[in-house]
Amino acid sequence: MRILVIHGPNLNLLGTREPEKYGLRSLDDVNKQINEAARRLGLEVTIVQHNSEGQILDAIHDARTWADAIVINPGAYTHYSIAIRDALTGVRLPAVEVHLSNIHAREPFRHESVIAGVCMGQICGFGPYGYVLGLQAAQQIVAEANR
Ligand code: DQA
Repeated sequence: MRILVIHGPNLNLLGTREPEKYGLRSLDDVNKQINEAARRLGLEVTIVQHNSEGQILDAIHDARTWADAIVINPGAYTHYSIAIRDALTGVRLPAVEVHLSNIHAREPFRHESVIAGVCMGQICGFGPYGYVLGLQAAQQIVAEANR
């Protein structure tokens, strides 16, 4: 089973960016944890990080040809990118939305996700472990669909 993991804008700054909200671990550390979990779960993962909306759209479109599911942290695009929402709908791949922080406990403008409605579900507030949960959820969804 092949899964695309997408980190959105500013997540390349993990470790130094608002550590009280996003933790002290770098994106490389987080990706190590994702790769270890994937190995344990028997999943093939490809991980990308993009700051621009267009690159995220391209990654989603490309996944159509090879991926079984997408795990995505759209960063701030979560709150307003109809284009990312439409891309996820368009490729018809099951997707899981992940956030490091609990967006529902933060500023009101972060409470709304325009992406969550086209995902199988949303995981937030568990730090980097959310990606591990996201992989497990994606695996479960794909396995059930293929049953
Ligand atoms: C985030 C939450 C977003 O509101 C914020 O803009 C981010 C990170 C998270 O992982 O908690 O960039 O997606």
